Amino acid sequence: MARRGPLVGLDVGTTKVCVIIAEQGEEEEVHIKGMGTSPSTGVRKGVVVDLDATTRAIEEAVDRAERMAGVKVAAALVSVSGEHVASQNSRGVVAVSRADHEIGEQDISRVVEAARMTAIPASDREIVHLIPRDFVVDGQDGVKHPVGMYGSRLEVDAHIVTGAGTLLANLLKCVQRAGLEIEELVLEPLASGEAVLAHAERDLGVAVVDIGGGTTSIGLFTNGGLCHTGILPVGGNHITNDIAVGLRTPIAEAERLKISHGCASVEAVAADETIDVPRIGSREVSTRPRRALIEVIEPRLAEILGMVKSQIKRSRYANLIPAGVVLTGGTALLPGLADAAAEVLDLPARIGLPEVRGTMARVVEGPAYATGVGLMVHGARQRAPGRLLRTTDGAGSMFGRVRQWFREFTHGA
Ligand SMILES: Nc1ncnc2c1ncn2[C@@H]1O[C@H](COP(=O)(O)OP(=O)(O)O)[C@@H](O)[C@H]1O
Ligand SMILES: [Mg+2]
Repeated sequence: MARRGPLVGLDVGTTKVCVIIAEQGEEEEVHIKGMGTSPSTGVRKGVVVDLDATTRAIEEAVDRAERMAGVKVAAALVSVSGEHVASQNSRGVVAVSRADHEIGEQDISRVVEAARMTAIPASDREIVHLIPRDFVVDGQDGVKHPVGMYGSRLEVDAHIVTGAGTLLANLLKCVQRAGLEIEELVLEPLASGEAVLAHAERDLGVAVVDIGGGTTSIGLFTNGGLCHTGILPVGGNHITNDIAVGLRTPIAEAERLKISHGCASVEAVAADETIDVPRIGSREVSTRPRRALIEVIEPRLAEILGMVKSQIKRSRYANLIPAGVVLTGGTALLPGLADAAAEVLDLPARIGLPEVRGTMARVVEGPAYATGVGLMVHGARQRAPGRLLRTTDGAGSMFGRVRQWFREFTHGA
């Protein structure tokens, strides 16, 4: 199963396409070698809406990353986002096959397959991940490594992430047209979580909230593993749009004002602070109180955080995340976001930055690179020797089905 060649992560976001190239060091260590981004104009709310624009954006980002790293790449781990992504938990049960009741690897495959069968998705949906969270041997739960143990009944609690087949096929098509093989599809909040969450937080129970341009993705982790996923079709771009409308300024100026003068709370801003706002359709610039800008940002942010709150509530894991919320994605750069989130969500909140090493680590420092870096961390773990279960175990064939579907689309089978 060990793949060779550099680790490559392809994060197809709504604002940017980002490619990161890394070398895998000892164990699961990741050393960043290169990074390239390009503006993502063919993706809306996490979903590809323009094949040509997205293919070009991928090609450009790959080219830039290859130049920095000084290597050519052929395959990548690719992030999956969009409101169509959904998750559910499922349980599989089998009788242990060997007469002496020693649990073997084939029992693991069978029980994972059983979990998949009980959660058969609708025909237009495909499994992105099938993650075994916990095994139960003869009623004893909390077993992480059942192989070699004795038992007669083996159960697994699995987390299953699915997406709309056609939307996944569109993403695959862009990646393949850009000349890349797909090593694995990885759910965006799962990747972001890999980059910014501490193991202790995941064990205790925590939520990662990645607020990008057009999406806010949420991943809940308990007992060390992913247990709930939700992707909301809102993000920082909605804040920018509100600023453009509210202050009557072009989108590009609104974005600039948000980045240079924005913050999460009006309270933090003195009444006499002012900003220069270029007016739309003229060369004039008006001087406005900075508070006018924050008065636009604050309610939209509260709305986004309110949606995060209802998503967490609906998951029924709200009481199982004492480690609180870790915010990442480009919008996490907004000053005061952690405090605003702690207040709305009534949970501890912090900003999560990706942690990496290597001479080029600096280029992927910000929260906007959490997903890309997380793809590296995830890939390194999957490639590590002696790994028994991949997060796509049992889903490999389904992933194949997406590919076949994709072929049928393109060749009219
Ligand atoms: N300093 C900043 N303050 C507030 N928002 C920011 C800042 N820098 C970037 N953003 C916002 O972050 C969003 C992009 O985040 P990113 O994670 O790169 O998005 P995506 O993954 O969707 O491509 C944009 O809406 C952008 O305006
Ligand atoms: Mg993103």
